[in-house]
Amino acid sequence: MPYPIIFDTDPGVDDAQAIAIALRHPDIELLGLTTTYGNVDVETATHNALLLAQLAGRSDVPVAQGAASPLVKPRHPAPAHIHGKNGLGDIELPKVQGKRDPRSAAQFIVDTVNARPGEVTLVTVGPVGNLAAALQLDPALVDKVKRVVVMGGSIREGGNVTPVAEANMFNDPHAAQRVLTAGWPLTLVGLDVTHRCVLTREHMDRIEAGQGALGKVLAESYTFYSDFYREFLGIDGCCPHDSCALAWLLRPELFTTAPGHLAVVTEGSAEGQTIFAPEGRGFIQERWSQTPLVEVCLEADGQAVVEWIAETLS
Ligand code: RIB
Ligand code: CA
Repeated sequence: MPYPIIFDTDPGVDDAQAIAIALRHPDIELLGLTTTYGNVDVETATHNALLLAQLAGRSDVPVAQGAASPLVKPRHPAPAHIHGKNGLGDIELPKVQGKRDPRSAAQFIVDTVNARPGEVTLVTVGPVGNLAAALQLDPALVDKVKRVVVMGGSIREGGNVTPVAEANMFNDPHAAQRVLTAGWPLTLVGLDVTHRCVLTREHMDRIEAGQGALGKVLAESYTFYSDFYREFLGIDGCCPHDSCALAWLLRPELFTTAPGHLAVVTEGSAEGQTIFAPEGRGFIQERWSQTPLVEVCLEADGQAVVEWIAETLS
């Protein structure tokens, strides 16, 4: 039976790869895309979401626009050197025909979850302000979603935008603190596993061959994104961060997880850091273990994950 999901995203090259999976995978029922600033401003994120759905022949999928900035801190400039100014590697893009849903992302989430209580999984792969706003509109969502899967954070791996913080958590730590401690069933898919996965040019050639007009955009934007990985990180390929959230949902056996308690640092030089207290472990104070229990991914079979991505899109 397909998984009904809402995919919350800031596309973004690796977001685009994951959106393609969400649009194409037979075991996913994509109820909608909700957009946020992050890799790009929110209008560009919405444009890209509409475009990707259109290229996949899925303009029927609603796209609802959400957060334009963080809850509390000022917005950081978009990382154009990683995703391009247009979020898709600055390649030339076809014109978008569709229009966005008139509702806000938060309202779309609330309406969609309430229409199918207990069924919908929220997969979020950008700064998590839309989920925080949805919780504000309807606090009872915590009991009505099936699960929340968050691509973000880092337990042992260290950060990618600061020594300790992952980008999606750093971009809105106050929203992240609310979402990660809300008390809904939640799985964190962070850098501990996404950094084990390298999507190579060979994988992308297969994806390009399999995905028509959508494949062309994925392959051309991949070139820009993987240039960043080569230049800054010495990696031959790219980490498909956001696709890992979907890989966990559909192929959890490829991941090792642990239960425990999360907190997000909201201020100071460690802002955006995710702090994990394993279940049952005693610390000097109880406060580390007082947030609700969640599940975090600690390890993954990276080769199998990227093979799953390539196979899904071939
Ligand atoms: O740290 C990786 C995350 O930051 C991914 O979601 C990527 O798209 C960027 O937003
Ligand atoms: Ca993203």
